[in-house]
Amino acid sequence: MSKINANYLKLPGSYLFATIGKKVKDYTAANPEKKIIRLGIGDVSLPLAPVIAQEMSQASLELGASETFHGYPDYEGYDFLRAAIIENDYKARGVDIGSDEIFVNDGAKCDSADLGDIFSLACKVAVCDPVYPVYVDSNALAGRAGEFLTEKGYWSNLIYMPCTEANGFVPEYPKETPDLIYLCFPNNPTGGAITKEQLQGWVDYAKRVGAVIIFDAAYEAYISEPGLPHSIYECEGAKECAIEMRSFSKNAGFTGVRLGFTVVPKTLMCDGVSLNTLWMKHQETKFNGVSYVVQRAGAAVYTPEGKTQTAKQVAYYMKNAREIREGLKACGYTVYGGENAPYVWLKTPERMTSWEFFDYLLENANVVGTPGSGFGPHGEGFFRLTGFGSYENTKAALERIRSI
Ligand code: MLT
Repeated sequence: MSKINANYLKLPGSYLFATIGKKVKDYTAANPEKKIIRLGIGDVSLPLAPVIAQEMSQASLELGASETFHGYPDYEGYDFLRAAIIENDYKARGVDIGSDEIFVNDGAKCDSADLGDIFSLACKVAVCDPVYPVYVDSNALAGRAGEFLTEKGYWSNLIYMPCTEANGFVPEYPKETPDLIYLCFPNNPTGGAITKEQLQGWVDYAKRVGAVIIFDAAYEAYISEPGLPHSIYECEGAKECAIEMRSFSKNAGFTGVRLGFTVVPKTLMCDGVSLNTLWMKHQETKFNGVSYVVQRAGAAVYTPEGKTQTAKQVAYYMKNAREIREGLKACGYTVYGGENAPYVWLKTPERMTSWEFFDYLLENANVVGTPGSGFGPHGEGFFRLTGFGSYENTKAALERIRSI
């Protein structure tokens, strides 16, 4: 008997962004004189908004005084933060979410990976293709994905839902009936958006087949078109079939601070069991909450100054995304995204594979992006650039790309 979780051995290579990080590190070590511009991983470049940084220092001083010291936080988050979330993210959009339906976490990645814990290993999982790798890799590590078919580049037991130019990067309902469906809109990596009618269609479909949707709304702050849904709960019936994940990383620059939350409605039942109750159990067992300082920082995002200051940052990144989109178009590239999401999804030129284009860009323009095939087989022939760099670097990267 092997003592290890052999599913870890099945994952080909390491996590996509770790692989890219290593490649760039090797290149930099061999070419120390080159100035690399990183538009790969979606990490923010602006500092925290002033009101957030001030709130964090104030909160940390409070921890230094016995009257205002805080020990273990509540597993599901402090009331003050959950109240701000309910008011601003949901009530303001006509959505009624209860405080006991919100679970504050240290960023959406962990819950993206861990939500699978409350579902059977026998569940059939449907993922978009291309997709944020965490959904796939975490199911693979749990043993739910089957075997990795190297030649095809996909897992035998997952249901892949192609997101292509032909379907506008919104998947069709799968032929095989899934138990769990991961959806992320605005989308990472394609930068595509979903209309309210399309999302309502997914909610109706999930209810019809008895599936649970895990909806990742990490990029909702980047929606610029009116009428697009910011939350799946804007759709009728979603509270009976969907879990929603949110992050403070992209709308408020918390990639290094770590804060997010997951909504598990109390009306969401699976096999007659409340998923809210199961998730609470999960959090109590595996998680000790988010620090007081970080939750105070989160609450500052919802203050009037916080809203103004973070909206400015989002606008800054969207300006970058627009520059990339328009700049690449002017060079003759076919591009998507960059309108309701900070990601631009471009077709690689000259039939280059995604990784060939990655190397070409790194070596000739010293610009780092993310190969589309790293997000799934239907990402082959595409490449992702992010708007999260500085404006100056974004302009410089485009100039370099234009020149090659
Ligand atoms: C990305 O680049 O896709 C994201 O930043 C990765 C993440 O949010 O974990």
